[in-house]
Parts: sequence; C-alpha cells; structure tokens
Amino acid sequence: MRRWAARIDEIEPFRVVEMLARARELEAQGRNILHLSAGEPDFSTPAPICEAATAALAAGHTYYTPAAGLSALRQAIASWYHSHYGVEIAPSRIFLTPGASGAILLVAGLLINPGDGILLPDPGYPCNRQIMRLVEGEGQLVPVLAADRYQLTPAAVNAHWRENTVGAMVASPANPTGEMLDLNELCRLWRELQRRDGHLIVDEIYHGLEYEKQAPTILSVTQDAFVVNSFSKYFGMTGWRLGWLVAPDWAVAGLEKLAQNLFISLSTPAQYGALACFEPATLDLLNERRDQFRQRRDYLLPQLRRLGFSIPHTPAGGYYLYAGIEKFGISSEQFCIQLLERHGIALTPGTDFGSHLADRHVRFAYTTSMPALEQTVARLQKLYL
Ligand SMILES: Cc1ncc(COP(=O)(O)O)c(C=O)c1O
Repeated sequence: MRRWAARIDEIEPFRVVEMLARARELEAQGRNILHLSAGEPDFSTPAPICEAATAALAAGHTYYTPAAGLSALRQAIASWYHSHYGVEIAPSRIFLTPGASGAILLVAGLLINPGDGILLPDPGYPCNRQIMRLVEGEGQLVPVLAADRYQLTPAAVNAHWRENTVGAMVASPANPTGEMLDLNELCRLWRELQRRDGHLIVDEIYHGLEYEKQAPTILSVTQDAFVVNSFSKYFGMTGWRLGWLVAPDWAVAGLEKLAQNLFISLSTPAQYGALACFEPATLDLLNERRDQFRQRRDYLLPQLRRLGFSIPHTPAGGYYLYAGIEKFGISSEQFCIQLLERHGIALTPGTDFGSHLADRHVRFAYTTSMPALEQTVARLQKLYL
C-alpha cells in the first residue's frame, strides 16, 4: 500500500529550504549568488565550542546521555538564566532537545490533544503550524499588524480565541520580523492567557541577538510558561542540532517520558561542545558577532527603504528584515524567483510565513557579509531605481 497518512498532504514544505537548494544548484552551475535567505549565521561555530566537543570525542564521550540531557549542561543553562536574566530555574525543568525544533515537537506532544488549537501570529515561524498538525492539533493563524510590531496582543488573543483553542505561541525576537515583546507586553499577554486557562509558549531562540536592549524572558514573568530556545542562532551551532525547553514543574514527568521515547538522547559531542558556550571568551566572541549583525542591520535597513521597500519599524533583534514590496507590483514568490534566477539574489517569499499580506512581503536575512550586502544593494539599485 503506497499511501502516506492524510496529515502529510496537509503539511506544507518549508519553502526557504527549497529556495536554498535552488540557490545552491545555481551556484554549482557557476552563478554568483548572494544569500539572504537562510536563517543561519554565516559565522562558523566559535573555536572553544569545537575544541570542547573534540576533546569530548577524544575522551570517549560517544555514548547516549540521559534523555533530558547532560546534567552539567542543564546546570550551565540554569546558571545562564541566573547570570543573564536574574531568574532562578531548577535544572530539572530544563530539557535538552535536537534544536529548538525538537523543543517545539516536545511541547506540542505534551500539550495538544487531537483537535486542539494554538494561536500563532501570522506572519510567524512556519514550522510551528506543521508541527501542531503532526500532533493532530491545529495552528490557528492570527493576522498581526505592523502597528503592533507584528506581535500577538491580548486583544488579538481575545478576538481569535475559539472553543478548541488551548493556548498561544509567540517568538520574541520573531522570525520573520525581528520584532520583540517588552516585559510589559509579555506580562499582559500572560495575564490574558492565564485568564483563559491557556498555555503560553515563548520561542526565545533569537535571544542574545538583540541590538538596543536585552530581550526579556517570559520566565521573569511566570514559571508557568514554556520557553523554547536553542544553541543554533546566537551561539552559532545550527548544524549541531541542540536546543532546549524550559517547562513548568508540573510538566516535567510528562516531558521525561516523551523525551525518552522520541529522542533517547541528544548528540553527546554537541552537548559537551555547548558546555563551552557560557565561558567568558566564547561570550565575548558571540557579542562581537552580534555587533556585526547590528552593523549589517543598520546598513541594510535604510538602503532598502531608499529603494522602495516598506519596513515600518527598526527591528530590535534577530537577523531579519521583513519588507513590503507593494511598490514593485509583483507577488512575493514571483519577486523572489525573478531575483534569484535573473539577478542571483536569494530571499524568502512572505508566503513562507503565513497568509496575511504574505504575498506583499519578502524576508531579507542579513546572515551574510557586509560586502555581500553592498553587492545586494548595488544589484537591487540597478533594477529598481
Ligand atoms: C523562530 C524559530 N524557532 C525555531 C527554529 C528552529 O531552530 P533550530 O531547530 O535550528 O534550533 C527557527 C529556525 O530558523 C526559528 O526561526
């Protein structure tokens, strides 16, 4: 019987990955491609992390670890919450996962009964709704406005809450917009969810990549929310596949069972490598990189505005610019295909992130060098000015 499950027909591809594959194909044909599509830092993993992982391999640390992760790493993450945010988190509430992706799967598996809905901002990170579908739930897309910096507000939660809704998931800073929720906004959102006895999941994967002020964690507001995070972005470890989930106490026993069955263990060398993430020398290097991201944002944003892209606010973090393309009178997918095929610029169409005005937006990821950004602007300028 060559038939897959019905859910697979409802799960959409992650277009950015397809765009990336096409960009690589063109590159293999000898074309010069400017990559502004991947949500992956162009900097490789800092040396102290690689060295710690290599030393662990040399010492024979090649076996499974506990399903929730190495206790030393859970402790190191707990200490990070203390030193960085001033919040106390028991290491027992921290689960290492295969990237933030694994943390989203874990929390979805924990919370969602068949038919349950989770409110998700549109535009937002596309895999969330596919993962909700995988566990027989439903991502309920809520159109969010530039005026609200594309974030979910209590009023929007109120307006879109349905009978089957059990919670909401937000990201701060967000993908694709780079917009952040401040402490007051997190408090108000939490109050609204609490009033409805709903869950709140906050994806904090872009923490560390914030350019004016530090992103507050929801854990400063409540110990009852779920936090998704990762070593992929700020720590520069995309390919190592390591992230984490912070869960309320009541959820720990359920998550233990799920983690044992889904993952058995996380990559052992990756976990030993990650122990070096919180050392001062590594953090100095990461903060230098963050400053470079800020410089790139500060260069690219005014240039794109000058060329006619509409970007109403300066995003506070992440490494994305979510740009309106109304001026060019073409759909976002057509725009991205033309730019890639004819002019060698890889972007991501807004349609990857939802449906609300998606066709009129594209995402620029400034995960490439300043010279590449300058070339991008030069190529766009020839086309559009
Ligand atoms: C908002 C958000 N959450 C989660 C992820 C998944 O990250 P990873 O599994 O590499 O940690 C990404 C990746 O781009 C993201 O942008």
